[in-house]
Amino acid sequence: MNHPRVCNVTTDFSISRSLSLSPPQVPNLWISVNAKQLRPQLRHIALFLRYKRNLVRQRQRAEEAEMVTAVEKKTEHVTNGAPGFKLVGYANFVRHNLKSDRFHVKRFHHIEFWCTDATNSARRFSWGLGMPIVAKSDLSTGNLVHASYLLRSGDLDFLFTAPYSPSITGNLTNTASIPTFNHSAARSFSASHGLAVRAISIEVEDATSAFNISVAHGAKPSSPPVEIGDGVVLSEIHLYGDAILRYISRKNPNLNLIFLPGFEKYEEGSSYPLDFGIRRLDHAVGNVTNLAEAVSYVKEFTGFHEFAEFTAEDVGTSESGLNSVVLASNDEMVLLPMNEPVFGTKRKSQIQTYLEHNEGPGVQHLALVTEDIFRTLREMRRRSAVGGFEFMPSPPPTYYRNLKNRAGDVLTDEQIKECEDLGILVDRDDQGVLLQIFTKPVGDRPTIFIEIIQRIGCMVKDEEGKTYQKGGCGGFGKGNFSELFKSIEEYEKTLEVAKQITKPAAA
Ligand SMILES: [Fe+2]
Repeated sequence: MNHPRVCNVTTDFSISRSLSLSPPQVPNLWISVNAKQLRPQLRHIALFLRYKRNLVRQRQRAEEAEMVTAVEKKTEHVTNGAPGFKLVGYANFVRHNLKSDRFHVKRFHHIEFWCTDATNSARRFSWGLGMPIVAKSDLSTGNLVHASYLLRSGDLDFLFTAPYSPSITGNLTNTASIPTFNHSAARSFSASHGLAVRAISIEVEDATSAFNISVAHGAKPSSPPVEIGDGVVLSEIHLYGDAILRYISRKNPNLNLIFLPGFEKYEEGSSYPLDFGIRRLDHAVGNVTNLAEAVSYVKEFTGFHEFAEFTAEDVGTSESGLNSVVLASNDEMVLLPMNEPVFGTKRKSQIQTYLEHNEGPGVQHLALVTEDIFRTLREMRRRSAVGGFEFMPSPPPTYYRNLKNRAGDVLTDEQIKECEDLGILVDRDDQGVLLQIFTKPVGDRPTIFIEIIQRIGCMVKDEEGKTYQKGGCGGFGKGNFSELFKSIEEYEKTLEVAKQITKPAAA
């Protein structure tokens, strides 16, 4: 006797309840039938599986389309206004140094801050950074237009300038040591921005031709070339916001000037001979509203090449972020990064916070290279509470527990411990290691701050056999960007709490 073949089939079509389309009708639960009777059921099941597969594909296609739209939205504002400019992100970026500078760039020359009282600003920075005041141009030197004091540590020069009363100056504007200084511009600058950087100055072979070439390639002129004595020529180009790029050239580099003509040596004993080990400016970063426009503008008139880039995905936390491009000169020793805010995050981007408090674009931070970051930090932290600079909150202990894996081949256990004690961040790229730390904003507003860095590795020899360190060695702290933003967000939250506490109670 032939018994019918028996088969039990259990089907779970619960997924059909969450689908927007109606699935083919399939019998529920289990069935027990012979092979012939089962055929129609199997056809239904096959149909349903095909339907389910198609639906999954549709969903995948929809998700892919959504992702593309999101990426396009994110990069929309960086492509606007600059055809052909599109960020590719850190991982996809390939550096090409075609040595494309339009004129001969030598090095950073100085940074000039405009303020309302140069004496106090200069002394505060002198004390906080270990940079003695070495030169002056003020009433005592016959300058009736502006008071300027120069701080120096190694090759780093910071100049602080404030206006005197125009009623004192009268028609003696030619007593200014920096002839491009303008009373009303300086007053308006300080009113808008508070303490801020007016000029990023670079030494070039010829400040006249650098100016002419820049203007011929779209640069907005700020001040035409002027010889300020002893063969020194100065010219200025608008950079971003109210910040300018200042070109300085010297016909006779061997001439022994303390700084620029018109400046005199600061009296011995008037400035305490501090030295915390800071040696030069590594990079000067700007915050702008439209990165594509700013980068295209500066690239076009300087010929600088793109050294690195970071997108919101590379550097942002879940709550804030930025897009960033680093421009570099031929030898990559003049580095000009620029940031723009990214929108649509839970908390406002701190770049946007800067733009609001600064009333527009401007210099966000200055990265200073030290020859010994531990020594520099010990000295700076000692002065934090007594007139020096405070630092952003240190990363959590877990950061340093992981550091041995990340940089244990370069840093000893003692050095890692010292990094933790001092709150130093560590990052590396394919070439070297970067040690870095950020101060809190240096003035009243949450705008400009200082970064102290030490780069390790990338030592090469020039044509004359002289050893030097390649520019940008170890990167810019991409891996630490998120740590920075987390700590800035923490800091901003404390400001909000303070605001709530100090808010007067309703009557
Ligand atoms: Fe930096």
